[in-house]
Amino acid sequence: MNAGRWLFAVIAARIVFCPATAKAAEPNPDLNAVQVVCGRCHTTAVFIDKPRSWERWNDVFADMTRRGAKGTDEQLERVTRFFLENLTLVNVNTSAAEELAGVLGVSEEVAQAVIARRQQQRFSNIDQLRAIPGINPDKLRERTRRILF
Ligand code: HEC
Repeated sequence: MNAGRWLFAVIAARIVFCPATAKAAEPNPDLNAVQVVCGRCHTTAVFIDKPRSWERWNDVFADMTRRGAKGTDEQLERVTRFFLENLTLVNVNTSAAEELAGVLGVSEEVAQAVIARRQQQRFSNIDQLRAIPGINPDKLRERTRRILF
């Protein structure tokens, strides 16, 4: 598409397979990376607590890349993970596996199980989602407002 796909194509594919690495002991290295990469030209208040779909975030990343946003591979990986886990909206009946994995905080396999289930029958509520083996109920509770049906 364009240069802005950096985060999605290059980085997201990698992090989806190791979502657990987000849980580090130190304060929050992912948020620190966001502050370094995205806080250089404006405050993070322009996007923190303003969830969007992953597609719309990719448009923002493309726009910011054009404006000069950059970072190391590690920083961009952290930024991608932070946005997926904290600021992205998913629709459990339509979103792609990598978005589901990031937002729900599950493995690729569990994300695929969600997709298999919706192909049988659409999800209509959070209880049906919680019933999928491997779904973490705590993360679900934390992220409820970003999970759409
Ligand atoms: C090189 C400078 C620069 C960096 C780095 C940068 N931005 Fe921006 N950003 C801008 C400018 C300039 C605007 C104002 C654009 C406007 O007013 O039209 C802006 C506006 C925005 C907006 C509001 C406009 C919109 O589309 O909603 C968001 C959200 C945003 N940036 C997110 C980010 C994120 C996320 C990052 C890190 C990946 C980032 N920015 C990094 C320069 C930057």
